Amino acid sequence: MAQYPPIMPDMPVLLHGGDYNPEQWIKMKDTIWPQDMELAKKAGVNTLSVGIFSWSMLEPEEGVYHFEWLDEVMDMLAKNGIKAILATPSGARPAWMAEKYPEVLRMDAMRHKQLFGARHNHCLTSPVYREKVRQINTLLATRYKDHPALGMWHISNEYGGECHCPLCQDAFRKWLKARYGTIENMNDQFWNTFWSHRYSSFEQVESPSPIGENWNLALSLAWRRFTSDQFCDFYSHEIAPLKEITPDIPCTANLMDFFPGIDYFKFGKLLDRASWDNYPPWTGDERDKESALHTAIMHDIIRGVGGQKPFMMMESSPSAVNWHPINRLRQPGILMLQSLQAIAHGSDTVQYFQFRKGLGSSEQYHGAIVGHDNSDQSRIFREVSEVGHTLGKISEVTGSAPESKVALIYDWDNLWILNEAQFGNNENKKYIETVKDHYAAWKQLGYNVDMIDQTGDLTPYQIVCGPMLYLLKDGFAEKVQAFVEKGGTYVATYITGWVNEENLAHLGGYPGPLRNVLGIWDEETDTLDDTRKNHFTYNGKSYACKDVCALVHAESAKPLASYEEYFYQGMPALTKNTLGKGQAYYIAARTDRDFLRAFYADVAAEKSLTPLMKNLPDGVLCTERSGDKGDYLFVMNTQPEERTITLPAGLNLRTDEAMEGEYTLNGYEVLVLKRLSSYSLHS
Ligand code: GLA
Ligand code: ZN
Repeated sequence: MAQYPPIMPDMPVLLHGGDYNPEQWIKMKDTIWPQDMELAKKAGVNTLSVGIFSWSMLEPEEGVYHFEWLDEVMDMLAKNGIKAILATPSGARPAWMAEKYPEVLRMDAMRHKQLFGARHNHCLTSPVYREKVRQINTLLATRYKDHPALGMWHISNEYGGECHCPLCQDAFRKWLKARYGTIENMNDQFWNTFWSHRYSSFEQVESPSPIGENWNLALSLAWRRFTSDQFCDFYSHEIAPLKEITPDIPCTANLMDFFPGIDYFKFGKLLDRASWDNYPPWTGDERDKESALHTAIMHDIIRGVGGQKPFMMMESSPSAVNWHPINRLRQPGILMLQSLQAIAHGSDTVQYFQFRKGLGSSEQYHGAIVGHDNSDQSRIFREVSEVGHTLGKISEVTGSAPESKVALIYDWDNLWILNEAQFGNNENKKYIETVKDHYAAWKQLGYNVDMIDQTGDLTPYQIVCGPMLYLLKDGFAEKVQAFVEKGGTYVATYITGWVNEENLAHLGGYPGPLRNVLGIWDEETDTLDDTRKNHFTYNGKSYACKDVCALVHAESAKPLASYEEYFYQGMPALTKNTLGKGQAYYIAARTDRDFLRAFYADVAAEKSLTPLMKNLPDGVLCTERSGDKGDYLFVMNTQPEERTITLPAGLNLRTDEAMEGEYTLNGYEVLVLKRLSSYSLHS
């Protein structure tokens, strides 16, 4: 059982709050700021993120600093018992900096230099930008190191994008040299004799571009890895003065939903806590099932990125956002569902963007706790206050975390190269969709799932699923083999083990170094368009195969099902290999979730795993967090209609009622049940 310390030691409860931009109201501060504090307290807000885009207010001219307003804000927060998540301002820069030092501006892949504007667009390499960031971060840390409001550092905002300027080209070449040593070796690893692409010096290498090199897959992969590493490096640079001056204050950077640009598992190792910004398109109808699953897997990815510790939902919208194509109002109940779903998956926070709706600019109609009505009587304000109240009631879950015997692999290197690779269906290899399908099957069966990447430790798990691991990182196959030999169950699918970490195909048949573990030879792969389906029968039931069918020979493995159509009729569609004390399955074709659900139910039964709840109705999800004080089952109805479930014995933490047996959840209702075994044991 895991019990983690609270994110902020002097705020040992679930955190509730959001992005707060008091500097936008500085000319009305005498009326607005005191109202903000009153409204924040009414809504049960205990944490606000400040300073995220404040650079031009902190340093309006080079070297001219104005911290007085922030001093006042920090004092005001402290006085009102609110903790500050204080941001470094690098997410957007002042105009004077762009004017005086154009090197801070990005260059795009077409080699166009950008103008001043927007945000999240600084050069990652620029020594000037790095120096300016070091200066301002040092000043912030020095000024607020002993301030009672300082609870955490919020580093920049939503790092992303890429820069192709000469400084970045130079850094890329150095990165390549460090990785490959010699240009000869790099040419070999990239297979550069193809199309006469051998370089004779690193100086000739340019980042991928539509007007230059855009067909060299290994170069593209290297560029993705480099850019991701540049963000790790930039983050390390940003936190260096903070760690020196405020060593006890935790740091985070807010991550994004399935953001492809940074290997979050690698980046996450640098974060004290992982955090992310959650903006699902809740539509108030059956599509919310998919939104809920999407959000669930993202919460679990972020928890995995943060080493399975409680993480932070750093942003979410209290109502409609302003940037989806159609911004539907949140139906009553959805805000509570969205908020408790985050907690259910291990978040110790519910934070929103934004506290108060601005009067102008591009986010003036984005959902906020306080609207342009400036009222505590709005529906949104009341719903946010109810969330605040509920977080208070369930606050004993703080520091507990979900535990799982099942891990699912999602891997950025694999995503990057599958986005580049030319074979099969070139419009969409459907890697993310496939991972989500496997995840959905486990969730519909009622299990907690840990999300890891290929570098993750497999030993805590009984079942590890690695769908579509086309690229196998060095050492991964050996790790899987040891896991299976010791008794684990490994599940692989079609398109596994084609290339090594450098994108060179394995000579000697797919799935490369996993061939022994899986006991198969995957000889060819058929790609089906939407008009074609194959079929197989598993446990007496027929299932459809779509998109991808691998033509597999069972070597030491045993076939469990075979194709029923096309020229490969009779070849295995599903195999099982036994190795040491464990087993390895190969799902040769892409199927719908119905098969995955039936199959994983059997795989779990073979391991004697039991779900958190049985017979979950369609649209109901559950998770469990465990800690020193007990085990907490979260049951979530992601649909507007009622759903009937059967509950284990427990205490409903939201109502203080004992519960057991049949219960009908209202639309979007969430139950937080402390299991009876745990509350009788622990209290
Ligand atoms: C992102 C940003 C915020 C804000 C919200 C709007 O997550 O971090 O600054 O723009 O989107 O949804
Ligand atoms: Zn650059």
